[in-house]
Amino acid sequence: MSEAPKNSFPPGPGGSTFAFLFGDRRRDPLAFFTKIARDYGDVSQLRLLNFRTLFINHPDDIEDVLVNKARKFEKGRVMKANMRLFGEGLLTSEGDFWLRQRRLAQPAFHRARVAAYGTTMVEYAERAMRGWNSGEVRDIHEDMMEITLQIVGKTLFNAELTRDAKEVGETMEVLLKLAADFGKSILIPLWVPTPRNLRARMGIRRIEKIIYRIIAQKRAEASDTGDLLSMLLAVQDEDGSRMTDKQLRDETITLFLAGHETTANALSWTIWLLAQNPAVEKKFFEELSGVLNGRAPNVEDMPKLTYTANILTESMRLYPPAWGMARLVKEEVEVAGYKLAPGNGVACAQWVVHRDARWFDGPEKFRPERWEGDLAKRLPRFAYFPFGGGPRQCIGNSFALMEATLILATIAQKFRFKLVEGHPVKPLASITLRPQHGIRATLEAR
Ligand code: HEM
Repeated sequence: MSEAPKNSFPPGPGGSTFAFLFGDRRRDPLAFFTKIARDYGDVSQLRLLNFRTLFINHPDDIEDVLVNKARKFEKGRVMKANMRLFGEGLLTSEGDFWLRQRRLAQPAFHRARVAAYGTTMVEYAERAMRGWNSGEVRDIHEDMMEITLQIVGKTLFNAELTRDAKEVGETMEVLLKLAADFGKSILIPLWVPTPRNLRARMGIRRIEKIIYRIIAQKRAEASDTGDLLSMLLAVQDEDGSRMTDKQLRDETITLFLAGHETTANALSWTIWLLAQNPAVEKKFFEELSGVLNGRAPNVEDMPKLTYTANILTESMRLYPPAWGMARLVKEEVEVAGYKLAPGNGVACAQWVVHRDARWFDGPEKFRPERWEGDLAKRLPRFAYFPFGGGPRQCIGNSFALMEATLILATIAQKFRFKLVEGHPVKPLASITLRPQHGIRATLEAR
């Protein structure tokens, strides 16, 4: 017989608004969440400002929130605070409106459609490498950000962003930095004219200018050019209505942000891990020469690049680009034996769960081989969830995996990377998990 749910919250680190804004949580959220999990176990109370949030670490409880009881929740406060930027895009919208948009966008992410983007992904990786020379030192993370931005631009909007890439990239950077300042995002709404908000608003206007221009071009072309935007322009709902420019703007900004930095992070962390693990790198190179023998990879090669896939899986275990997730309770609900009321929060962190020794042997070690057996089948469903889960699961999941595999395979056939000694590589838990000071490496032609 299950116990009656508890009304009171479990113990946790507590903390004041001051601690939230200036304490450990803000300075080093990864260490903070790891410590709470160690000190309090699978469920604890987090006080974020005056909001009570249940912090959960057990995969079964996470599954309850993201899948079984998903209807009782909506997106967390940080997402909501950033609505001005994302608008009512897929990442932030809720309810029937979200469902409609998700249905409209889904065809653009169907397997066959995504497969067609493969050639573009390889082409852009090759294009970027044309400017690379053996022996030079580069910031790999900057390169990955540039490549994935160009790819999102081309595949999803059929726009050559060569001219705009720098501006979009830089502006996104500013906006993401501002958005990642969780405390301020929540406390000070964007309409308050603080210097931070004025910068954000200017950034949003710059991006909108580019995006509205791309939308106008598309409307004028009025044909399906194979990209997501033209599909979204063409689709009609059952009632015959189409998306407005504002809706298209929201979805476009969302996809630029959701689809570009996450994949770049996955690639950067993978390259960094490979450079430190010569045995893994060697096996990876052997697989590439066995399967590709020097030619460019394509989508059909993917099922054969099994070790490459395990490398990416393992890299996203240790350095999950989406490092944590949050939800807000919409209707009374029980989680981990506690009764939660509307307005309460729930949070979990891939960073913590993916490094839990109950699910992974030697959790801190980078060992792609661990995925060779039936580990994925044996694990509880939410012991590994880099793409989230349930109805709000990442729509770009296969897009991202294909992109990361193809870029990695393309680049690694031409270059290997030697890390610059003394350059600090530190994960920064911003909205995504990025290397704080980039990753500096010397290129070595292969
Ligand atoms: C390695 C790369 C990626 C990772 C780790 C990742 C991770 C995630 C996660 C964890 C969520 C769920 C957030 C939540 O439930 O609160 C999500 C949602 C989403 N992702 Fe990704 N993502 C990646 C790449 C992409 C790409 C390439 C795209 C688009 C091209 C994309 C578009 C989206 C969208 C639109 C959503 C919202 C879906 C919805 O709520 O309907 N992501 N992503």
